[in-house]
Amino acid sequence: MILQRRMASSTYALLRSLERRKDKLEKILKGEEKPKPISVNIEEIEDLEERKRWEKESEWENITFAKNTEELKNEIDTIEVLIEKAKEIIAKVKKAVKIPLTVKIRSGWDKSSRNFLEIGYMAEQEGVDAVILHPRLKRDGFSGKARWEDISELKSRLSIPVIGNGDIKKGDDAKRMIETTNCDAVMIGRGSLGNPWIFKEVNAAITKEKIPNPPSREQKGIILLKHLYLAVKFKGELRGVREMRKHMGWYSKGLAAGSNFRKLAHQVNTFLQAKALIIDFFHLKDEDSLGWAFE
Ligand SMILES: Cc1cc2nc3c(=O)[nH]c(=O)nc-3n(C[C@H](O)[C@H](O)[C@H](O)COP(=O)(O)O)c2cc1C
Repeated sequence: MILQRRMASSTYALLRSLERRKDKLEKILKGEEKPKPISVNIEEIEDLEERKRWEKESEWENITFAKNTEELKNEIDTIEVLIEKAKEIIAKVKKAVKIPLTVKIRSGWDKSSRNFLEIGYMAEQEGVDAVILHPRLKRDGFSGKARWEDISELKSRLSIPVIGNGDIKKGDDAKRMIETTNCDAVMIGRGSLGNPWIFKEVNAAITKEKIPNPPSREQKGIILLKHLYLAVKFKGELRGVREMRKHMGWYSKGLAAGSNFRKLAHQVNTFLQAKALIIDFFHLKDEDSLGWAFE
């Protein structure tokens, strides 16, 4: 998530906690700390004791309302009931934890239930620190264009910060989202898959600094190797390598002979198999110089 400089004073706590989290992230990457979850889906929030335990270890908690289950939808037949249910959830979590709380929502379930304004307003009234909007309907999945105009509308109605999300694929998209919707910060999803460089690019675009050059094939390969190493370190070889199959696919997007690489990546089961495939595909000739990636 990229935060803009101009933010309401009410968000300082959130900003500070993100800063602390940045330190934490660095420690996690150095292997000095284990990652701690801070974002939960609504299906998982009922255990408030768990929330309190997490509070000691996280600096900011987010509830994702976007991932409504079909069962929940079946329980809810009107917008009023849905808002009531959401309000109950937020109030419970708000009471249970003292760290800043955000909620992430979509524009609505389907065309007949576009409820982001009602839910956003209710969240503000319940004391939530910021609302994140992914402006697609649940029915749309990830298809079609995100309706940035919904972000503008929500921003114009709320006093708390609104974080815009949807279709940020490069630095300029983030700049445009902030300019056109007036949102306070942006959240990046698919644009970061296989492309962790996007965050530097977005920061440069927002602060009007020179946009960094895109990474070379070799630079991509080196970071992918580091990613592979960390995935295995944190998740164990089998799970780490299996999860990395899709990341290998994302990092190879747009590169020559990528489709054959993706086919082979889909079959790797061990760290050494994945490493050899990456070294070959990304033309990493000097294997000895890659030692740092495995520290
Ligand atoms: C692989 C993947 C995993 C995701 N996991 C989560 C998640 O755990 N929680 C969440 O709130 N959103 C999750 N999302 C949704 C994104 O945060 C974001 O709302 C969505 O991708 C739209 O933004 P984009 O157009 O920048 O991708 C996920 C998306 C993808 C593609």
